[in-house]
Formats: sequence, structure tokens, C-alpha cells
Amino acid sequence: MRRPFIAGNWKMNLDRAAAVALAQRLAKEAESVEGVDLAVCPPSVYLDAVARAVAGSNVAVGAQNMYHEPKGAYTGEIGAAMLADVGCRYVILGHSERRHILGESDTDINKKVLAALEAALTPIICVGELIEQRRAGATMDVIASQFAGSLAGLSTEQIAQVVIAYEPVWAIGTGEVATPDQAEKVHLGLRKIMQVRYNEQVAQAIRIQYGGSVEPENAADLLGQPNIDGALVGGASLKAESFMGIIAALAK
Ligand code: 13P
Repeated sequence: MRRPFIAGNWKMNLDRAAAVALAQRLAKEAESVEGVDLAVCPPSVYLDAVARAVAGSNVAVGAQNMYHEPKGAYTGEIGAAMLADVGCRYVILGHSERRHILGESDTDINKKVLAALEAALTPIICVGELIEQRRAGATMDVIASQFAGSLAGLSTEQIAQVVIAYEPVWAIGTGEVATPDQAEKVHLGLRKIMQVRYNEQVAQAIRIQYGGSVEPENAADLLGQPNIDGALVGGASLKAESFMGIIAALAK
């Protein structure tokens, strides 16, 4: 049985006081939540403060990006061990905003995934198609190619450490959520890819989150799909009520 995993991607939002206040409130409200892994991913400058705010609670902390080199002359970059040092357990890699706005390639993402695993961070690796690609019937080809490129060279032991997030680009921040059926089809397709490349056990064990306009109102239907193991939440993770509402939808 895969344990559900709900993570909030705060993106480039909130200030320090708001980030700490939200983290403290989530830590408190999540006290009674069982059977689910929870994480928040604040902007990197607030990681340390947020990690302190949720220390000892059910809420873990993740970063939104990292650099693949461990240290050195890479002005402006942050390495995996540094993230672990300030209390991160997860790191989101290959988010569509990094792929499409910041120009990250599958090769870049792959280097980061391997470096994150090396530092014992759990990468949340994002894949997802553009609307034109979906309209052209190329969704699974795009996903397969992103999966092959971003997860190149991972051993069976390494793949067991990752989380995948399916985030259709057209559903991110648009309010246009994928239907449970559309998302389920891609999640099932991802398991098939893992079964062919690794084995059935790997395919059944890896958690695949859905991301893209998840709200308390649509979460139960999405999370109720057999191959959807949680959510990577953007906008709705910025308010305690809506993030907790999505967590509550798991029980429905
Ligand atoms: P929204 O939930 O705001 O659509 O963002 C999804 C996302 O990109 C999470 O990583």
C-alpha cells in the first residue's frame, strides 16, 4: 500500500513572517493527521525558518530547486547537502516553471536528481505535457521522454527513493484541473513505464502525486483514483484552510 503524500509548493510567495506563521499553523493543525506524509516547500531563503517552525511535527520541509554540484564557485546556487543541513527532507526537481521559464533540460534535472539522492534528499520529480502536446495526442510520449531523461541512470535502489509528480502544464495555476480520468490514465502510464524499465514491484511502490489546480473541492475525486497517491499543491497550499481541506479530502 502506498502512503499518500501531500506537499505544498509555495513557489515565490509569502514573506518571512507569513511563511513562519503558515508553517506553525500547519504543524499544529496536522497534529491529529495520520497515515499521510506532509511537506511544505517554501522559497529557499525561508527554508531554515520554516524548518524550525515545523520541527518535531508531522510536516516535513522541501526545497523547490537545487544545484547538482555539492559546493564551489557557483554563485547564487545551493547544493543538496546545504538543503539537508537546514532541515530539508525533499526537493522538487524539474518543475514545469523551471523547465519552461528557467530553461532546465532533462539532462540538468537528471544531474540534480542524482545529486539529491547522493545527499539522502527525496526528489519530487515533475513531469507534464503542454496543452499543444495533449491536443496532438502526444501526452504519453512527452511523459515517457521526460521520465527517461530526468531519471536516466537510476538503479532499482535509487528509483525506490523518488516521488514522481504528474503536473500537466495547462492545469498549473489556471484553475483548469485535469479530470480524475485524465490524470489517472497518465499515472497508470507512468507505472507501465516503470514496470518495463524496472519491475512490477517498483511500479507498484513509487508514489505519483498529481499537481495542477488542486483545491479542496476537487481533491477527493482526484485522490480517490487508484494510481494517484497524493498531490503537489500550488496556490491552495498558501492558505492553511485550503491546504488542510485537501488533506481532509483524503479521508473521503
Ligand atoms: P497550482 O496548484 O497553483 O495549479 O500549482 C500546481 C503546481 O505547480 C505545484 O507544483
